[in-house]
Amino acid sequence: MAKKTAVSFRLNQTPVDVLVEPRELLIHTLREKLATTGPHIGCETSHCGACTVDLDGISVKACTVLTVQCEDLDVLTIEGFAKGGQLHALQEGFMQEHGLQCGFCTPGMITRAYRLLQEIPDPTEEDIRYWMSGNLCRCTGYQNIVKAIQYAAAKLRGEAVATSHPLMEEVTV
Ligand code: FES
Ligand code: FES
Repeated sequence: MAKKTAVSFRLNQTPVDVLVEPRELLIHTLREKLATTGPHIGCETSHCGACTVDLDGISVKACTVLTVQCEDLDVLTIEGFAKGGQLHALQEGFMQEHGLQCGFCTPGMITRAYRLLQEIPDPTEEDIRYWMSGNLCRCTGYQNIVKAIQYAAAKLRGEAVATSHPLMEEVTV
């Protein structure tokens, strides 16, 4: 068995320490050692984006990052989005615009969209489609995901928001 290495990083702003083999992938450490099961494993070959997390201000696929590379870095997963019982604007947007069906891709979608909106607060539809092109959804088609991100972008800019989804008009957040 390979010698284990101690790694310390911040997970959703909480310091964590883990012992890992040098080859261990971040997605496995998160899910199996830190009870952080929001990031999902879809392909494990860097194609689907279900495992997307934010690593020190960069959007990464956690199935392609070694945990030992995370020493002293900040890792943000979907578990870190809601604050004080309030959904993040992106979570609200995905709900209001019906941007999900089974939800398997959603944690990765939201985490990737978070990085997009950090970099481009007022993205065009083309920007959104380009930035989200590494995240695959097998259920929804992508139109409602684009609308969900536009909803969140507007809310984060302080603009009035309203769902465009006919079945969600009566739902209040
Ligand atoms: S599980 Fe990482 S990209 Fe698919
Ligand atoms: S909502 Fe099912 S894979 Fe995207």
